[in-house]
Amino acid sequence: MTAPNLDHGADLYGLLAFYAEAGVDEALSDEPIDRFAEARQAVNAAPIAAAQASEATAPTRAAPAPAARSAPPPMPAQPSASVPDEAQAALARQLAAQASTLDELRQAMAGFDGCNLKFTAKNLVFADGNPNAALMLVGEAPGRDEDLEGLPFVGRSGQLLDRMLKAIGLDRSSAYIANVIPWRPPGNRTPTPHETEICRPFIERQIELVNPKVLINLGGPSAKTLLNTTEGILRLRGNWRVHMTASGTAIPAMPTLHPAYLLRTPAHKRLAWRDFVEAKIKLRSLA
Ligand code: URA
Repeated sequence: MTAPNLDHGADLYGLLAFYAEAGVDEALSDEPIDRFAEARQAVNAAPIAAAQASEATAPTRAAPAPAARSAPPPMPAQPSASVPDEAQAALARQLAAQASTLDELRQAMAGFDGCNLKFTAKNLVFADGNPNAALMLVGEAPGRDEDLEGLPFVGRSGQLLDRMLKAIGLDRSSAYIANVIPWRPPGNRTPTPHETEICRPFIERQIELVNPKVLINLGGPSAKTLLNTTEGILRLRGNWRVHMTASGTAIPAMPTLHPAYLLRTPAHKRLAWRDFVEAKIKLRSLA
């Protein structure tokens, strides 16, 4: 990304518009984070940990390593910049399993502080549509418009999704829509594997509670996360897969191309159209 040269334009408004267009539209955190301190902490912690490990395994007690003695005390932890860890994923699994209704699940997610994305997002983007629908669609993560409205797929790709649904005779009153990640990643960056693992129990439980007859995975991240595969979406799409719920229900799942991808690659819309028609045929056969 190359920003316009301010010396030759001095158009600050234009520069802001440029950044907004590029997805740089908000500060990442209310509090400044000293990344150098974090790096120093990691460097300082390494020799201490190494010294502790060698002390623990040494047959006779050795003098502490010079590096450990001269290391400055570690910096205090940064509370708002917590790195997602297995404990948070375990908590997410526990909260998700305890939710016996979609309302309870929404409340559990709203109260969950274990995913750092929550702290830069404006809203929890839980779902839109009809929770009793036979068709559920799952995307990747909310974008800017979705974050502002607190609803999935309301921006440009959402408008295309609405047209795709209409093409098979459905709309948001006959389909249920959610995302793997319920908080917008800052600047629309790709969610990290850690973030995805932490959020996974919530979307899995959401699918289990909605219990749709057919699932459509919108894009590779949704397909890979919910169908436990590493295959690329261009190979996956158009072929029926199964999403297994924790309680053992097998839900037919059709991976297809993400509407945002289709906006960039309109020639592939015909492929997604075929996938939606397949889903419609499956819904009819299961009705
Ligand atoms: N892309 C997604 O994957 N989900 C949304 O809600 C919006 C855009």
